[in-house]
Amino acid sequence: MSKSKYDPIFEPIKIGNVEIKNRIAMAPMNMNYTGPQHYVSDQQLAYFAARAKGGTGLIITDAVFGVWHPTADTYRKYNNMRLDNELFVAGMSELAEHIHSFGAKVFVQMAVGPGRQGTSEMGAVQPVSASPIPYKTYPENLINGIEPFSMLRALGYQGELPVTDDIDELLSFANKVPGTHMNGETPREITVEEIQELVKEIGVGAKLAKRAGFDGVELHACHGYLIHSFFSHRSNRRTDQYGGSFENRIRFLLECLRSMRKYVGPDYAIGVRFSASDNLPEGFDEHFAKRLAKRCEEEGVNYIHLSDGSYEKMNNFLPNEEALTIDKSAVINQGLNIPLICPSVHNPDNVVDALTKGKADMISIGRGLIAEPEWVNKVKEGRIKEIIRCTRCNKGCISRFVLGLPCRCILNPTVGQERFIDEYMRRPILPLKKRVWQTLAEVGKEPSVPIKGLRPEDL
Ligand SMILES: Cc1cc2nc3c(=O)[nH]c(=O)nc-3n(C[C@H](O)[C@H](O)[C@H](O)COP(=O)(O)O)c2cc1C
Repeated sequence: MSKSKYDPIFEPIKIGNVEIKNRIAMAPMNMNYTGPQHYVSDQQLAYFAARAKGGTGLIITDAVFGVWHPTADTYRKYNNMRLDNELFVAGMSELAEHIHSFGAKVFVQMAVGPGRQGTSEMGAVQPVSASPIPYKTYPENLINGIEPFSMLRALGYQGELPVTDDIDELLSFANKVPGTHMNGETPREITVEEIQELVKEIGVGAKLAKRAGFDGVELHACHGYLIHSFFSHRSNRRTDQYGGSFENRIRFLLECLRSMRKYVGPDYAIGVRFSASDNLPEGFDEHFAKRLAKRCEEEGVNYIHLSDGSYEKMNNFLPNEEALTIDKSAVINQGLNIPLICPSVHNPDNVVDALTKGKADMISIGRGLIAEPEWVNKVKEGRIKEIIRCTRCNKGCISRFVLGLPCRCILNPTVGQERFIDEYMRRPILPLKKRVWQTLAEVGKEPSVPIKGLRPEDL
């Protein structure tokens, strides 16, 4: 094949024992496509199939409940998939098989709970966090498309709205209306006993992920959720073994990772996603994250997946601009010996720059793959101009997600409808087809009749 400046994107990479055919991962995104009672839906199978068929090397599923614990119940507003108990293994194995049949590897992201970013709405219990400190919303940290006024109207608020352009005034008004999710409730301090229960349960969750056929499991420790709340002085004022020193603040994370390792064995891929910083006063920064990444490597973690920010710094978590986390990623990657995935680089030239300069080993793309499932294939074939580029408007995706609606995209009318498109039905499972051909050959029969769905290039 002729040389292309995009070749670095197509160099395979190994995460633990998992060989990934290129450097693009699909970032975890809950699209509100999950079926009733947290079961995988046909829409999810087809949606992921489209991105795998589009050439993405590694799919990382959205955060599934890795535990089913009263403290995690405060996220019931969002219908995440579950993999905390045997009942969900069959459905989740369909998902893994489906994605595999399109040639991508798949890791499942697992969460232990939303922490102080959960809510007692819909009858759930009071949220728990490292310490009883609520999160705040800062007007300057909002993202495109999430304006207090439109959110209030979308949530069905019919009352009068203040006549003002002052964003602080609007926010303080919006925060008084239940259901806006603008400011947090005061959480309860999680007990040591509850922490220990979560640590055990997430280990069992990882075991089920392995059984379901996923290639690896990624622990969700980012975006201000429960594990993240322990890292940050903004949210952690504990005086016990989970607060104070660096080792204490990362203890919960390491305990979860060790528990997962115990249940999946030494050869299974485990990763962790954390924010590169809080990027706010008294929060942690990328130097903390760098130390944490190194510590995870020492613990036998197989890769790090970065993100940035939290609900308090939404414009880092869901950047309004290209490659916002890449400089922090460069700092964290220096001296790290396990692969590092940096999020939110959508421009292929910036991806090549990041990979060739050692700023990251892989790139995860989220909204860019909602808009353009064929991103990888188009880059591979040099069809750069044909890439439909996400504008980071958030209109169809996150703005609808927070209202509990299925995500759409103003640039891609098929997203959310993939289940109606035949090409995203599961492909034949190759090893089985191969076995049929081999058996025919062994008994001296020419496999002259083409086997339905088997293409010559599959052999
Ligand atoms: C609708 C939506 C849902 C998301 N859900 C998750 C999630 O479940 N877990 C997670 O770690 N990040 C989640 N994210 C963040 C993405 O993984 C990603 O980091 C972010 O969108 C920035 O990358 P992008 O600019 O390529 O979209 C979500 C983002 C969106 C838009």
